[in-house]
Amino acid sequence: MAVLGIGEILVAVLLFVVIRYWRLNRHTPIVKWPILGMLPSLLLNVPTIFDYITSLSKQERGSFMFEGPWFLNMNIFVTSDPMNVQHITSTKFENFGKGDDFRDIFEVLGDGIFRSDSQLWKYNRTILHSAFKQPSFRLFTHKTIEKKIESCLLPVLDHACKAGMEVDLQELFQRLTFDNICSVVLGFDPNCLSIEFPEVAGEKAFTEIENVLLYRHIMPRCLRKLLKWLQVGIEKKHKQSQEIIDQMLYEQITTSKFKMLSQSRTQADDSQYSLLNVLMNNESGKEKVDDKFLRDTAINLLAAGRDTISSGLTWFFWLVATHPSVEAKILEEIQENLPQIKGNWKDLGVEGLGKLVYLHAAVSEALRLYPPVPLEHKCALKSDVLPSGHRIDAKTMIIYSLYSMGRMEEIWGNDCLKFRPERWISKGGGIIQVPSYKFIAFNAGPRSCLGKNISFNEIKMIAAAVLWNFQIHLVEGHPISPSISIILHMKHGLKVIVTKRSIGT
Ligand code: HEM
Repeated sequence: MAVLGIGEILVAVLLFVVIRYWRLNRHTPIVKWPILGMLPSLLLNVPTIFDYITSLSKQERGSFMFEGPWFLNMNIFVTSDPMNVQHITSTKFENFGKGDDFRDIFEVLGDGIFRSDSQLWKYNRTILHSAFKQPSFRLFTHKTIEKKIESCLLPVLDHACKAGMEVDLQELFQRLTFDNICSVVLGFDPNCLSIEFPEVAGEKAFTEIENVLLYRHIMPRCLRKLLKWLQVGIEKKHKQSQEIIDQMLYEQITTSKFKMLSQSRTQADDSQYSLLNVLMNNESGKEKVDDKFLRDTAINLLAAGRDTISSGLTWFFWLVATHPSVEAKILEEIQENLPQIKGNWKDLGVEGLGKLVYLHAAVSEALRLYPPVPLEHKCALKSDVLPSGHRIDAKTMIIYSLYSMGRMEEIWGNDCLKFRPERWISKGGGIIQVPSYKFIAFNAGPRSCLGKNISFNEIKMIAAAVLWNFQIHLVEGHPISPSISIILHMKHGLKVIVTKRSIGT
């Protein structure tokens, strides 16, 4: 029998230590390995990362420091404590920016609002805030989605219904919201949503980029940089996708400029309205309105308005389909409050939408449990002590989990995991206003979402139109779980069969 060499003995001892360590710690969520820190546990839990963060947060009373391998500088402070979140987003807003790491990961967003801090952010926010509050903008967004529902969404569902075919509602909503946000921002409809489900390069490129972005968060920075430098794997895909998107954006910017030059403002009508045009006409920002500024602003708005709404809609429809009593109450509310609609959902109008309190509550409840943006990323500029007592050094990366905050008993009570729209309705029958640092789906403080009202209106219009006209049946056995992305998509989509609803005809 051969005698074991020193190498083999060392490997055997190492294996023994690793297996023993794993066996002792396998039921503890926070496992810190010698040298590697918590990285192995994180990698093992990547497929269920949002629930993993939630269980660690619960175990550590809201906050914990994720410690990566000491040589990779990967320490991240993770919190779901609403007091910490209020401190970061509002009280000490000036001390918590996006930071260099965020800028590095999200370079595709250029100098747009999501990727900027300080003066540049203020400049972006002021311009967009003034564009968003114009009544003409609100009216235009309402009309655009109304037209899209009427001319595309309902006919596509009608077709699926007649053909008895399965539909992936997630894909359908992604196509719808991409068409819609492109129409609003660029003044151009790529027509992704039609019976044929055509492949539109720009739309596909967006999905590719989102998938890469979450992996960039998890991957050690040096590995990310190496892949980027070598232009292989996910980094190659990212570059190709960005080129496709840039080509689409610059083409639209050139077309918009050309149209603006060839037609005087007095001739302007609805068909020329777009956020690009509003920005190009914006006197206060004239010196900065170059093509790069327009490209950066446009891509930030497309990112903001496309997948957030489609993700919210997908989870909403799944929750409603699995809670028939909620569906019945939504339909009852539409019928009671709007007896005149008699089959025509369009008669809802803006005022009609305001009357649908239960529907509003059901949408809020879906966004609480499944926030389209599950994690937020910040960086401390100076050292600080958080309300939880944790000390944060300057340049520490911070993640607050919107997903976990929607599942905290301390905020939502013992039934926090239940889909219960009633929790949003006051005794007087109105919507209970929950502070944004608790209902965090739209972020809180000075950087809270500029599209919150638009989103509620859009989701409610689509929900009312679809539920009024169709019954949604989930395809049996189809698995439902979140995908690993910066947006909370469903990993396998939402496969359904639709049938015509008789009250809507
Ligand atoms: C259900 C739909 C939506 C959700 C859940 C949502 C959520 C959020 C969240 C979490 C942020 C903070 C992001 C960050 O700072 O990194 C944000 C910011 C923002 N959102 Fe939304 N959003 C939605 C739809 C929209 C739409 C439709 C628009 C516009 C068309 C929009 C425009 C913006 C803008 C401009 C910001 C940047 C605010 C800033 O940094 O000052 N959002 N949104």
